[in-house]
Amino acid sequence: MNKIIKKIILLQTMMTIGMSQNPLIIPPAMTGNNFDLTLQVCEMEFFPGVLTETMGVSFPILGPTLIMEKGEEVNISFNNQLPDTTTIHWHGMHVPAEFDGGPHTPIPPNTIWNPHFTIKDHASTMWYHPHLMHKTNEHVQMGIAGFVIIRDSLEALLDLPREYGVDDIPLVFQTKTLDDNYQIVTNMDSSGLDSYLFTNGTVDAFLEVPAQIVRFRLLNGASERSFNVGLENHESFYVIGTDGGLLPEPVELDELLISPGERYEILVDLNNRVGETIQIMNYGSTIPNGVYGAETVGGMGGSSIPYYADNDLNGNDFSLLSLHVVSQMDEPILTIPSSLVIVDEWNTDEVDEIRSIQFSSVVMGPNGALNGPFQFNGEPFDINVVNYEIPLNNVEIWELQNQSQIAHPFHIHDIQFNILEINGLAPPEHMRGWKDVVLVPAQNGTAKFITKFEDFSNTEVPYMYHCHILTHEEMGMMGQFTVVGESSVSIDETMKSPKTFTLLSAYPNPFNPSTQVRFNVSSPSQVTTVQIVDISGRLVETLLNKTLSVGEHTLQWYAGNQPSGVYFIRLKFGSLTKTHKIVFMK
Ligand code: C2O
Ligand code: CU
Ligand code: CU
Repeated sequence: MNKIIKKIILLQTMMTIGMSQNPLIIPPAMTGNNFDLTLQVCEMEFFPGVLTETMGVSFPILGPTLIMEKGEEVNISFNNQLPDTTTIHWHGMHVPAEFDGGPHTPIPPNTIWNPHFTIKDHASTMWYHPHLMHKTNEHVQMGIAGFVIIRDSLEALLDLPREYGVDDIPLVFQTKTLDDNYQIVTNMDSSGLDSYLFTNGTVDAFLEVPAQIVRFRLLNGASERSFNVGLENHESFYVIGTDGGLLPEPVELDELLISPGERYEILVDLNNRVGETIQIMNYGSTIPNGVYGAETVGGMGGSSIPYYADNDLNGNDFSLLSLHVVSQMDEPILTIPSSLVIVDEWNTDEVDEIRSIQFSSVVMGPNGALNGPFQFNGEPFDINVVNYEIPLNNVEIWELQNQSQIAHPFHIHDIQFNILEINGLAPPEHMRGWKDVVLVPAQNGTAKFITKFEDFSNTEVPYMYHCHILTHEEMGMMGQFTVVGESSVSIDETMKSPKTFTLLSAYPNPFNPSTQVRFNVSSPSQVTTVQIVDISGRLVETLLNKTLSVGEHTLQWYAGNQPSGVYFIRLKFGSLTKTHKIVFMK
């Protein structure tokens, strides 16, 4: 190439960088055990000379990346300076229900929410985002979301890129609907119009990366859209981690479909590429029909989501981020590791319960639009109904069946699962790790996963499961469960307890055909309810529902013609609930 042409190319590149490209925002990292954060309304200049109203966490858009160590206790405070009530949920993290940040733990304006817990997760990429009923989509769209990077001793032993913002880069892909004044539109009618792409809250972004192995932590933070991530020219890259941790070994791919809520960690080999510009692409043209982001959703006669066909992002290939490769840093990682960690999957021999969830077949509206209802098992979400009471330590298989025309990314709080099947087949290799979202294919698609509900029980605050297409979630494609602990309260402890109500015992246990329940009431002011529920959380019988005198009480439960098995005695006294496991053996 002669010098003049070289110069012209250089000039053109500089012009594109200067004129049309913006440096990628890297959310600042915070470390340690205490995180003080403020939820706030702000403005961003996404487009020259125009201010767009946003929301952010201590920053104008998105929030800092919280780097946490497994085994450490963390203390977070969210000061809500929004004009709106919100919540903050720890997506993917195994935390107590009262700190999970779902719709049951609102943070009113001008108040501080202070969750604190011990990190129990594997080294992974998690995220935090709002989760208030009817406000989740709005608050996420306005910009509230952040990464959590969890580190542990096993990950630390591996030769992986780990320098945050240099060779270890978080990338959140989101699309938004903007009005004529470039303001973010968040109402449900804007579904289908999300034609502006934001990578880390940056439009038309570029990033300088060193010519070595670079790790990207990919998060789909969009409300509806799936991204099919790949490198320019379909060069290959390596998936090393799923939602909840690292894989056993890197999996080489050239396209990676990521649905809302999902995370994947990938390694990209940029050795010897100094000076090149490489695009991280969305290969929209190969997204399967039925997945939001594909050319069509809802096969019948081109029927689809309102405005969907007019949105240029659908079914098209476009750049998500432009990488400018610069020289290597000191002590670069230069090779892809051959193995990673042992993934100790849950064992199907230990299953206690199988639950099935049907995703309602979505009814076509007047213009052939997918109108809903968005429901599980034919029931709209009811915040006052706990759909499942799950015994602590249960190993369960959940079977998901999607009768609708659109693929739904199913997400569940509290736990990580292992996918057993998608459409009856073992999942592809890059999904054989820890997951908390699974995209259930459209048109009678199925998925099956196995999990265990460990550590945390709370009869008052439920965890959620829902479609992570936020518009579907808001329209009722959500349910909730509590994890019900076996009462480990001994008589000595209960005597010390300042509580006004204590469960003492059930005897005999196991029993046939009846057992005697003994409990103690130390304050006369409230109604006591005693119920028997079965292992799937179904109410079998209400034994008592009245105000009792102070002192010890006994009740008899006659199991009669119930089947043998595990039952729970559930005692409620005001807002206190206790449960006790009993076993009926004929
Ligand atoms: Cu990321 Cu219940 O949500
Ligand atoms: Cu979640
Ligand atoms: Cu959905």
